[in-house]
Amino acid sequence: MHKEIELVSKRNRVLRIIGNGGSSIRKEFKVMKRFSAETGMLKLLKNEGIRVPDILEVGPDYLLLEDLGDETLLAWLERSENQNLKNYEFMVEEMAEFLKDFYRATQAVFNETMIMNDMNFRNFIIHEDRIYRVDLEQISKGEIEADIGRLLAFATTYDPPKTDWKIQFRNSLLEKILKVMDLDRKLVQRWEIEEYKDIEDRRK
Ligand SMILES: Nc1ncnc2c1ncn2[C@@H]1O[C@H](COP(=O)(O)OP(=O)(O)O)[C@@H](O)[C@H]1O
Ligand SMILES: [Mg+2]
Repeated sequence: MHKEIELVSKRNRVLRIIGNGGSSIRKEFKVMKRFSAETGMLKLLKNEGIRVPDILEVGPDYLLLEDLGDETLLAWLERSENQNLKNYEFMVEEMAEFLKDFYRATQAVFNETMIMNDMNFRNFIIHEDRIYRVDLEQISKGEIEADIGRLLAFATTYDPPKTDWKIQFRNSLLEKILKVMDLDRKLVQRWEIEEYKDIEDRRK
């Protein structure tokens, strides 16, 4: 048996490859600079104990990655809202801890504050009850408040947007993140508003 399923990708071609021995993810890069950036980041983060997929193979312009499954943070969000889950504290905490560890590790390695930039919920995958990050090609220097503001903007704009449930979830996420990291709340909110504008422009 051999099957290839194309996953939602904005910038590249990403396939789930299912064979006899199991499944893996093949990410084919359109831009070589991004390919080397992601390869380097995956190795570095793994080395720092940050949860990212294992690299199974480095091709000329593609990576073969460990398949973390299809429970993206977006799938979790949509299901949890449908079930009207109120007890999502565990996920809010897991997310805040993951983010804190990511910023601490990259700060230590680069001696600069590094951020992920693309905070789409599809780029976080829940695997064996832990959060993993995929899509590392856009990591750059920046302020953490930008990432967090963008994360909050994404949290409330998936369909249906701005529901009470999503707003509650966003509020819990913000409070937990501010508890575990020393950030400027006003700046987070400014970045969140920026991202709302960008999301609206992208949808036009
Ligand atoms: N190792 C992986 N395991 C499971 N799903 C993955 C993995 N890597 C990527 N995906 C899924 O494929 C989507 C696209 O991959 P991503 O690296 O984000 O590429 P792009 O930036 O082109 O969208 C991700 O949002 C994620 O849902
Ligand atoms: Mg992506």
